[in-house]
Amino acid sequence: MRAKWLNDAVFYEIYPQSFRDTNADGIGDINGIVEKLDYIRSLGCNALWINPCFDSPFKDAGYDVRDYKKVAPRYGCNNDLYRLFGEAHKRGMRVLLDLVPGHTSEEHPWFRQSQTDAENPFADRYVWTDHWFRGFPGLPYIGGESQRSGCYILNFFKCQPALNYGFLNPTLPWQQGIDDPGPLATRAAIKDVMRFWLDHGCDGFRVDMAGSLVKLDDADKTGTCAVWRDITAMLDAEYPEAAMVAEWSDPRLSLRCGYDADFVLNHVGNGYSTLLRDYESGADNSYFRRDGDGDINRFLSDYLPQYEDAKGRGYMSLITCNHDTVRPRYNLGPEELKLAYAFLFTMPGAPFLYYGDEIGMRYLPLPTKEGGYFRTGSRTPMQWDGTANLGFSEGRADSLYLPVDPAPDAPTVAAQEADPDSLLNTVRAVLALRHREADLQADGAFEPVCTRKGEPFVYRRGALLLAVNPAGETRYADVDIGDREPIFTLGRMDAANGRLAMGAQSFAVLK
Ligand code: NOJ
Repeated sequence: MRAKWLNDAVFYEIYPQSFRDTNADGIGDINGIVEKLDYIRSLGCNALWINPCFDSPFKDAGYDVRDYKKVAPRYGCNNDLYRLFGEAHKRGMRVLLDLVPGHTSEEHPWFRQSQTDAENPFADRYVWTDHWFRGFPGLPYIGGESQRSGCYILNFFKCQPALNYGFLNPTLPWQQGIDDPGPLATRAAIKDVMRFWLDHGCDGFRVDMAGSLVKLDDADKTGTCAVWRDITAMLDAEYPEAAMVAEWSDPRLSLRCGYDADFVLNHVGNGYSTLLRDYESGADNSYFRRDGDGDINRFLSDYLPQYEDAKGRGYMSLITCNHDTVRPRYNLGPEELKLAYAFLFTMPGAPFLYYGDEIGMRYLPLPTKEGGYFRTGSRTPMQWDGTANLGFSEGRADSLYLPVDPAPDAPTVAAQEADPDSLLNTVRAVLALRHREADLQADGAFEPVCTRKGEPFVYRRGALLLAVNPAGETRYADVDIGDREPIFTLGRMDAANGRLAMGAQSFAVLK
C-alpha cells in the first residue's frame, strides 16, 4: 500500500454542481468547497473526493471529459483548484480528484482527430474497427458519424468513446495488443494527466470504471490488471503517498494491481445492498429498517471473504451513498440512519460520506439532468440553512442547477447544528470516536462475534466490542463483555451475567 494515511481517513464526497455556489450563477463551484472546508473538517472528514470538475459538455455530469487538465469554467479555474489543495492541506485534509481513464467525451480533441481520415497521432487512441458499419459482437459501437471508415467502441453512454488500452489476445487486424504503440500511448497520456494533478497538489484519484480498460477477452481482467500495475508502479516510484481508490467493487483484483482501496457498491443482490437498500422486491428487508426482517449474514457472507483477502493489501470502502445511488434517506428515517452510519463508520477500510447524507437529505424524484436519470434525485443542492435556496446559492431559484428540497421540513445543517441529538451531531460523535480509537480505523482487526438473526449484531474491532440493534424492540445476545465499559452509546444498553441487552434502535462501543 502506498497511501498509509488512509488508515485514519474518512472521506466526504462532493458533487461540485450542488455543494455551494459562491458567485450566484446557480451552480456550485470550487470556491464554495474552499468556503466549506472547516465545516467538512468539523464532521470528522479529513479527505475529499470531488466528482469530475474538468472541462466537459456535461452529457454525463462531467464523466465525459473534454480537457483533463482544465477545470470546467462553470466551477472556476485551475488556480481555484490549486488553492483548494493548499487550503485542504493546511487543515490536514487530502483531496482526491476523479480520474476517468476508460473514455473521454466525443468532443475531446483526441477524439476529434481520431475520427478523421487523415493520418494523425490519435488514430489509435480509441478502439476503432476497420469497417464503416461493422462493430464487434458484445461491444457497443457507433458507425456512420465519422469521416473515418470504421466504427468506434463505446465505454458507457453514446457520448463516451472508449480509450484504447489494447486487447489481451488480438485476433483481428484492427485489434492491438496491450503493449502495442497505440495502447501504450494511451497509457502514457493518462499517466501524464495523473502527474499533472499530483504535481499541483492533489493527493490521489477515485478511478471511474477502473475494471473497464481492456475489452472482450479480458473476463478475468488479466489485461486490465497489467495496465494498472504499470500505471501504479509509476505512482510507487514517483508519488509514494498517492491514493488510488477504484470504482471496481472487486478488491480481489484491484488491490492486487496497485489500488489502495476499492468501493463496496450497491449492485442489486450484493451484501452491501441488504444493509440499506433491500427494497427492490417490494418489501423492504434492509438490515437497518426498524421494522425490517434484517439478517446481517446476508451482508457478511459477501463482505467477509473479500475482507479476509484484502487484509494487508488495501481497503474496502463502505459508503453511505454516492452520486449514482438512491440516498439512504429514501427508505430510512433519521434514527435508522444514525445506526447505519455508526455501523459503516466503525468498520475497517476507508469510509465515504456522501454530501448531505449527514443531515439525511432526501432523494427527490426529478426529471433527468446531465445524463443522471434516476440518479438526479440524489444530486440536489446541499441544504445549509433556512435562507433563500437553503443557503446553497444567492442566485435566482429558477437558475439553480437542480431545485432544492421544497419540503417545509427539509433538513438543514443550521437546524441540526443546534440539536445535540441530530443526525449531523451523531455523525460527528461517531467520527470523533473513530479518530480517537485506533482500533476503529482502517487497519483495526474486525471479527463478528454474534450474528444470529433476531439478536443484536456484535462485532470486535481490535480490543473493542461493538453491538448494534436496529430493531424497534430490545434484543439480547449471549455475549460476555468481561470488564469492558461502554465508551459510546446510542439508545440503551445493559450487560449482566454474560448477557447483553440492546434497547430498541441502539448501538454501543465497549472498551
Ligand atoms: C461511473 C460514474 O460514477 C457514473 O456517474 C458515470 O455515469 C459512469 N461511471 C460513466 O463514467
